[in-house]
Amino acid sequence: MARPDNHDPSTLGFSSRAVHAGNSIDKGSGAIRTPIVMANSYALPDDPSQVSWSGTEIPLYTRNSGANQIALQHKLASLEGAEDAVVLASGVAALHAVFFTHLESGDHVLIADVTYEATFRLFTELLPRKYGIEATFVDASDLDSVRAALRPNTRLVHIEAIANPTTKVTDIGAVAEIAHAAGALVVVDSTFTPPPLYRPLSEGADLVVHSLTKYYNGHGDAMGGAVLGAKALIDPIKTDAMVDVGGVISPFNAWLISRGSITLPLRMARHLESAAQVAEFLDRDERVAYVAYPGLTSHPQHELATRQFGGRGYGAMMAFAVRGDPDTQNRFVSYLRMITSAVSLGHDESLIVHVGTSGPRVKHYPEEFRTWGHLRFSIGLEDPDDIVADLAAALDATFT
Ligand SMILES: Cc1ncc(COP(=O)(O)O)c(C=O)c1O
Repeated sequence: MARPDNHDPSTLGFSSRAVHAGNSIDKGSGAIRTPIVMANSYALPDDPSQVSWSGTEIPLYTRNSGANQIALQHKLASLEGAEDAVVLASGVAALHAVFFTHLESGDHVLIADVTYEATFRLFTELLPRKYGIEATFVDASDLDSVRAALRPNTRLVHIEAIANPTTKVTDIGAVAEIAHAAGALVVVDSTFTPPPLYRPLSEGADLVVHSLTKYYNGHGDAMGGAVLGAKALIDPIKTDAMVDVGGVISPFNAWLISRGSITLPLRMARHLESAAQVAEFLDRDERVAYVAYPGLTSHPQHELATRQFGGRGYGAMMAFAVRGDPDTQNRFVSYLRMITSAVSLGHDESLIVHVGTSGPRVKHYPEEFRTWGHLRFSIGLEDPDDIVADLAAALDATFT
């Protein structure tokens, strides 16, 4: 017997939801998987005069609500434990959508002093200049600093659960308590910590942002972004930022990301296990100047990370440097044979990027980052022994 069309996977376990949530039997073909629907428009009712042209509930026009977007939104909301979700063209489009929708001119925001570069630029350049939004950059791991930086017009606090690139960890529950007491929304960019590792909404975050380009898709072949949270906060993002500003995801990318998300639990287990092994290897090697990874006991927020991520892991991103000048860092990277020198993260392949010691963000980084620069390292799905062997051979070649 065919599965009923209204099959509700909400009571299933995480891996089962990763497979089934958002998927439905295609009524036209009988296919048991949601097909790629490359159509801009959907059939209107016989009398369309009552249709809301900015509505997002029914398939209407792909900038409002295409079939593949709706399917992906259902899957993500199920995995993240969110009431609702909106998907957009990229992670940056998702970040912009939150700030554009939920901030007004004259609002003040607290931004963690270490965040993804484009977020930092949004709040140092674009949003203050264009919209008169005031931003204070604060060490979110220091709760007294967070409390002290709040103002009567603080509307929003933005943090990353594990910060890009220093891996600083913030106590999301504690920050949410402080922010909520002051009437501010808490937005967490959880790109480094996808479920089942972490779900910030369950700790009091109001909105969660993901670059779907990274772990959710996982295969480095499609860009997307998502915002998740209560329907009352997501609905205005859909109308203001998606329908009216138009940063919509393509149906094909939404389908690719839905497909990639099916294996998220399996991939995350491998990413987390390999990252721990690689971090320990790098940490033991005298030729490595430092390793920033929340799973190491030397990490300043190691205990918080253990508690916050429930012992499930510490992410699969790290930063380190070899002992030497920038040329030495570059030489080390040039000797890597399997690990690829390229931006992005959360892909199947391990990716490394050499980042120097200049730029406006760097003053917020720990001293070792400012002394040596850093190699931002995304641990992929290759055999962990091969990753370690590649690093070991490159270290030998660099230091002989
Ligand atoms: C933490 C974080 N948030 C957001 C983004 C932006 O995502 P996208 O490249 O999909 O726009 C990135 C990209 O590296 C990121 O690391």
